[in-house]
Amino acid sequence: MAKTIADGFFQDPRLEKAKQLIKEALTEHQKTITGVKPGNPELKESYDALLKKVAEFRGGALFYNYLGSGIGNGPLVELGDGSVKYDFITGIGVHSMGHSHPGVIEAQINGAISNTVMNGHLQQNVDTAKLLELFSKQACKYGAGVKNVFLTTSGAMANENAFKMIFQKRNPASRFFAFEKCFAGRTLGMAWVTDKGAYRVGLPKTVDVDYIPFYDANNHQASIDAAVKAMKKYITRFPGHHAGFIMELIQGENGSWVGHTEFFEALIAVCKENNISVMVDEVQTFGRTSELFAFQYFKLDKHVDVVSVGKNSQVCATLYNDEHKPKPGLMSQTFTGSASQIAAAYYVINEMVNGGLLGENGKNNRLHNHFKKNLEKIAQKYPEKLQGPYGVGVMVGMSLFKGDEPKSKAFTMKLFENGVLSFLAGGHPTARVRFLMPALVTEEKHIDEVCAIIEKTLLEIE
Ligand SMILES: Cc1ncc(COP(=O)(O)O)c(C=O)c1O
Repeated sequence: MAKTIADGFFQDPRLEKAKQLIKEALTEHQKTITGVKPGNPELKESYDALLKKVAEFRGGALFYNYLGSGIGNGPLVELGDGSVKYDFITGIGVHSMGHSHPGVIEAQINGAISNTVMNGHLQQNVDTAKLLELFSKQACKYGAGVKNVFLTTSGAMANENAFKMIFQKRNPASRFFAFEKCFAGRTLGMAWVTDKGAYRVGLPKTVDVDYIPFYDANNHQASIDAAVKAMKKYITRFPGHHAGFIMELIQGENGSWVGHTEFFEALIAVCKENNISVMVDEVQTFGRTSELFAFQYFKLDKHVDVVSVGKNSQVCATLYNDEHKPKPGLMSQTFTGSASQIAAAYYVINEMVNGGLLGENGKNNRLHNHFKKNLEKIAQKYPEKLQGPYGVGVMVGMSLFKGDEPKSKAFTMKLFENGVLSFLAGGHPTARVRFLMPALVTEEKHIDEVCAIIEKTLLEIE
């Protein structure tokens, strides 16, 4: 006997049958998506009109002429003009399960047939409990103390909430440390953390941030010394004024720049001596290395006070230790995430943990090595055109034409036309083109096809 009416409803055999039918229809249709395909000429006019409408009502054109049709198959996605492309950027790292994954769709249906659209901090359904526990247990599995989880709606909000907790604990300290060229989001607060002038033009100052140079693998010890020196100099200049240090351990928006444990530990030691909270921004790194969290990959478990996650996790969150528990009144939000999102997050994170992605020999590393090998071959053939690749796991970047931004942008546009989604990162003259593959559904043969298109496209750029 079902204990609640909801149990009775969710276990009703008619729902099982309906879900089975949806799954059958989905797999039947999606299996016809087998490779890159140009748009249907008959749809060109109406698709262009749609793009124009979006640009008009959005107040500006989209980066790519991308409006999805609503179906895909693994790493392949169909657009509204009937074209099919390889999605190797996944909405900047969101669709880690690729497109139209039957398991994700089933999870979303389970959420969609529950009573409301949105969960929030005042009223959330029982599913939330499972998700909180999953985040917490996974984050703490090697001994980290970040066991408390506050759900939120975007990566930038996860960072905002982290900053609030840290500032409150360290009050009256009002400054933050961040890495040069970091990206932390685009809220009024995060616009002053993200190290890109263009993203804060015209905005009033919100947070005082001191920037520390990032790790340089070509100058291991010198870059550690330079970063520590810079940090100490700021601390001497503003004694007792720094509340926290936000660290992106692999810089994503800057083009997959990878840090080093010794580098982070040297800086963390200075933080600990000076009562500065250690915050790791995992919005982009979550689920992309051989560990679920990049702080686990770099073995910083003992040191982290606050961690933000987003993108791959489907629902964003701030994880924090007991010392950073906010006082009543500081935190709340109307929305945590939709019921479908929460169900999908639980499914996706479990798949990331149990689906063979993680570990030394896991798929994230395997795909990385295969992609790297292919790109290195292209780099050897055309050393003037392609340098790299760089990155860890399923974060892969490459320099084109020695970091020339206009040419790199032209390449991404051409690559899109030729059937592969990538994205631009960093800025001139250190621009990179990067990829965030949907690891669970990408196979070596997909990478081979993508690399053939990359090579062809490179030859089309003058
Ligand atoms: C490291 C990092 N932090 C924060 C954010 C902001 O996340 P969102 O765009 O969901 O606000 C991003 C987004 O790219 C990111 O890469």
